[in-house]
Amino acid sequence: MLRTILLGPPGAGKGTQADRIVEKYQVPHISTGDIFRENIKNGTELGKKAQEYMNRGELVPDDLVVEIATDRLLKDDCKAGFLLDGFPRTVYQAEKLDEFLEAHGQKLDKVIDLEVGEQELMVRLTGRRVCKNCGASYHIVNIPPKKEGICDKCGGELIQRADDNEETAKNRIDVYNKETAPLVDYYEKAGNLARIDGAQPADQTFESITAALGQ
Ligand code: AP5
Ligand code: MG
Ligand code: ZN
Repeated sequence: MLRTILLGPPGAGKGTQADRIVEKYQVPHISTGDIFRENIKNGTELGKKAQEYMNRGELVPDDLVVEIATDRLLKDDCKAGFLLDGFPRTVYQAEKLDEFLEAHGQKLDKVIDLEVGEQELMVRLTGRRVCKNCGASYHIVNIPPKKEGICDKCGGELIQRADDNEETAKNRIDVYNKETAPLVDYYEKAGNLARIDGAQPADQTFESITAALGQ
């Protein structure tokens, strides 16, 4: 049983570490960004609403996000725990999550904060490539696929995320600093924050995370 949040700026490696964490701890990976991208791909109403914010690198409105996230947390597979990636992202969202957990008699075990400097974040975001087919994530320099432009796992085409251009990536980091960074303090005060150096290579970062999570 593990209930945890991955906090950290855009490009810090939340998705990369989430893949490893869910494999080891066998909990569902809940990424609000992934949920929105899936909805955009499928052309749903939710996708249409989210897309305009995401393409500008702005946050999707709180009430919409809270509803999506809490609906997901009510699913059966979350009874055995969960890993939240990219939610909460504002103090309001964090308060709503606290209310939800309290109402369901649940407690967070840990909040993992991945710390990475801004210059490195920009390199990671602009160099990221994702598989159009299975969503696997690569980096043109740091974590290249075996064959350029092709996914190792499924042979799908690798593309750039719509919000990974320089201008939008920069805005996402600014929005993070304004809206999301206060959550570090919020969870520090709650007493369950683990600060992790996310600038290490991915495998070492994962080791630091498992050391903080225990088991
Ligand atoms: P979301 O999808 O959550 O994006 P994000 O927070 O900007 O984070 P990223 O997914 O870009 O980065 P990551 O930390 O997962 O890094 P990754 O592992 O891929 O949100 C997108 C949008 O949706 C938001 O802008 C907003 O509009 C909306 N949204 C979502 N949730 C919301 C919410 N709660 N409220 C309101 N709006 C919301 O790694 C990045 C790159 O670096 C990859 O190429 C990877 O290969 C490479 N890399 C990873 N680790 C390492 C390492 N250790 N060393 C070297 N390279 C590495
Ligand atoms: Mg991500
Ligand atoms: Zn793939």
